Amino acid sequence: MEQVQRILMDVDTGVDDALAIIFAVKSKKLHIEGMTTVFGNVDVKQATENTLKVLDLAQPYYKIPVAMGADYPLFRPRREAVTAIHGINGLAGYELPATSRLPIDESAADFIVRVVNERVNDLTLVFTGRLTNLAIALAKDPSIAQKTKLVLMGGAIKVPGNTTPVAEANIHGDPEAAHRVFESGIPITMVGLDVTGKAKFSETHFHQLMTGITDEQAELKAFMDHIFTFSFEASDRLNEGKYRLMHDPLALAVVEDASLVQTEDYYVHIETKGPLSSGATLVDFRRPQLRSNASVCMQVRAEDFLQHYIHTVLS
Ligand code: RIB
Ligand code: CA
Repeated sequence: MEQVQRILMDVDTGVDDALAIIFAVKSKKLHIEGMTTVFGNVDVKQATENTLKVLDLAQPYYKIPVAMGADYPLFRPRREAVTAIHGINGLAGYELPATSRLPIDESAADFIVRVVNERVNDLTLVFTGRLTNLAIALAKDPSIAQKTKLVLMGGAIKVPGNTTPVAEANIHGDPEAAHRVFESGIPITMVGLDVTGKAKFSETHFHQLMTGITDEQAELKAFMDHIFTFSFEASDRLNEGKYRLMHDPLALAVVEDASLVQTEDYYVHIETKGPLSSGATLVDFRRPQLRSNASVCMQVRAEDFLQHYIHTVLS
């Protein structure tokens, strides 16, 4: 029997975070020990509300505690939310029903410290937003870096950024937090734009998904219909064609099945200064990599991933 992996997800729920949560709940190979929320696509209050409502939609058969986290970067003001990509509420303007789920009475950072210490070497942190909560958790208990591992969606090595010419949104949103995490010694798998930029969920994938969803999943179908249609229009407006980049779901899929990607070990430096360069994930390619702090995903079997995503959601 396949081993089930315990994960703790940190999200800024957002459209693609929502797609990642649905995938993780439906996955038979992942068990979500808890979720933490952070500002990013929306403020943390909205991210928390969205997370709780998306959990209702995904209907996990087990309990998933949700802890609210940081609403600001460590040392700088928060940037405006990108409503063109995620809509005014982070979920493309879609109004999910009110939820009776509540966040737990523990901060995200305290929750991370506690769960990592309860599950030493038996937990993967999966971060699909800013790294602020983890930077705070590491400041509270630096030893957690030796007790767990991290898979993160963020960064861009050989491709341009999506927020500035060189910076990806999750790293750009709190570079000081990212710097602390990358220098902490925690084992990192970086799922950045080098691979997520190739994970394009097209109209063909959308039709496959919609055709497969049964009538018992009418709410899920309506939600998927809305957010993919919104995403296709948004990408079309940017003259890029109709698709949805599956940034955050790919990070979850890589936890499930590392063979979907090829990685290269690099020492990734996080740039924290400069109006254009802040948030860049830099590798010094002039020299051989004598040490590394991250396994960076550089190639992806994109179609296999997209098919796996669809089949998991339909399962
Ligand atoms: O750059 C992509 C990332 O930024 C994703 O995690 C998305 O949800 C946004 O936060
Ligand atoms: Ca995200």
